[in-house]
This record gives sequence, C-alpha cells and structure tokens, in this order.
Amino acid sequence: MSRRIEHTPVEYLRVTDLHAFYGESHVLHGMDFVVNQGECVSLLGRNGAGRTTTMRAILGLTGRRSGSIMLDGKDVIRLPPHRIARLGVGYCPEERGIYSSLSCEENLLLLPKVASGGMSVEEIYAMFPNLKERRHSQGTRLSGGEQQMLAMARILRTGARLLLLDEISEGLAPVIVEKLGEIIRDLKAKGYTILLVEQNFRFAAPLADRMYVVEHGRVATEIERRDLPSKMGLLRDYLGV
Ligand SMILES: Nc1ncnc2c1ncn2[C@@H]1O[C@H](COP(=O)(O)OP(=O)(O)OP(=O)(O)O)[C@@H](O)[C@H]1O
Ligand SMILES: [Mg+2]
Repeated sequence: MSRRIEHTPVEYLRVTDLHAFYGESHVLHGMDFVVNQGECVSLLGRNGAGRTTTMRAILGLTGRRSGSIMLDGKDVIRLPPHRIARLGVGYCPEERGIYSSLSCEENLLLLPKVASGGMSVEEIYAMFPNLKERRHSQGTRLSGGEQQMLAMARILRTGARLLLLDEISEGLAPVIVEKLGEIIRDLKAKGYTILLVEQNFRFAAPLADRMYVVEHGRVATEIERRDLPSKMGLLRDYLGV
C-alpha cells in the first residue's frame, strides 16, 4: 500500500494588494496571489490584463507601486531591482532580449550571477542539447524556439530560484511548445518555483498547480488544478477562447 506524504506548502512569493503605475496610468489595481516553493503557478488573462506589469512590478521595474511583495519571507516592495534580483529572482521577458551580435554561448554567459548554486554551462547544455549544437551561432541565426530556450537557459545560470516566465510559448511551433513543457516539468522536479504568464492556457493548464485569471489589473478568479475540469466553462468565458 502506498501512502502519499503531504508536505506543508511553504510560501515563496505572496503578492498582496499590489498597485502599480506607469506615469499617471494606474495599471495594477490590487493584485493578490501566492506561489508556494516548488510550485508552478500561471497568470492567465486577455491582452492588456496586467500580467507583464505584475512581473515587472515584482522586480521593481514599473513606476510607483504599493502593497506588499513577500519574497521568501521578506517584503521587497521598497527594494531596488538589483537587490530584488539578488534574492534569486530570474526574469525571462516576453521580448526575450537575445543580443543578435553575440553568439548563443556569449548570450548564455551574459547575465551576472545573482545567487550561488546556479546551473553550470554543462548542466544547461544537458538540459538544452540544441543550444550546445548552436553555441557558436550568432543570436540572429537562432530560430524563435532556440532564442526562447536561450532566454530561459541563461537565467538558470544566474542562481535564480524563482523564475518569472512571460509568454514563453508565444508564436512557437507545437513541437517546440511541447519541448518547453518538458523543460518546465524538469525545472519543477529540480525544485524551481515558477510564475508562468501565458495567453495559451492549453500550454499552461497541465503545468500549473494553480491558475489565476487576471482582469483589469486584479485577480478575477483563482482555479486550483483539481478544480479545472469543473471550471473549464468559467475559464473559457474569462479568456474568451
Ligand atoms: N510602459 C507602459 N506605459 C504605459 N502603459 C503601459 C505600459 N506597459 C503596459 N501598459 C498598459 O498597462 C496595461 C497592462 O499591460 P500588460 O503589458 O501588463 O498586459 P498583459 O496582461 O501582459 O497583456 P499582453 O502581454 O497580452 O499585452 C495595458 O493597458 C497596457 O496598455
Ligand atoms: Mg504581457
């Protein structure tokens, strides 16, 4: 007889009543959500809902913000971006940020270490064998899928333990998207904590322990993985799919 051992969840990120502004424009209107250690949590929502802004606000990259962002037990809302990054937060932005004039490997080595315990280049190449093959290729010569993998791979080198991944499946062929799904599972198995912003809920749903639907800069609803089958209709209504 097998017995499941239930671990008490440990909160890694708790965002409470987060408001954020770009200049005069009030974009986040009280975001509330939790990501436990080792979880993959997805923020879903329509265009302009405020998901990218949520990630940028966590990192301190928006203008004025208020509320609380508890990271590993510490409120970071008043810290500057470099201090927040050094607490082990890695950001993979929607635009990927691959330098076209640098090689694949130079791009991989570009980001500074933020914490100890990052993956070695060898470990990264074991996880992304195609990047190893392409290591001397120029950034511009990489396919969209390779660029996306490179953008993810290089934050693993920095020692980040919380990964903020923005629309990684966007515009990629189904076979590449499937590969990204395997990588997310692998990262979870390695103990990383992941916040996955997605438009594509078919990609996010099987990976996420919990999903939050974001609308007009706040969480409209929270869906636990086990409730997904009964809440598919609701989710479709929110996302308009
Ligand atoms: N730099 C900025 N200055 C002013 N307003 C912005 C800026 N960036 C985003 N916004 C506005 O903030 C709102 C939320 O945008 P955000 O990029 O967070 O949405 P999103 O959920 O990531 O959607 P998507 O990525 O599909 O566009 C939008 O109305 C957008 O126009
Ligand atoms: Mg976005």
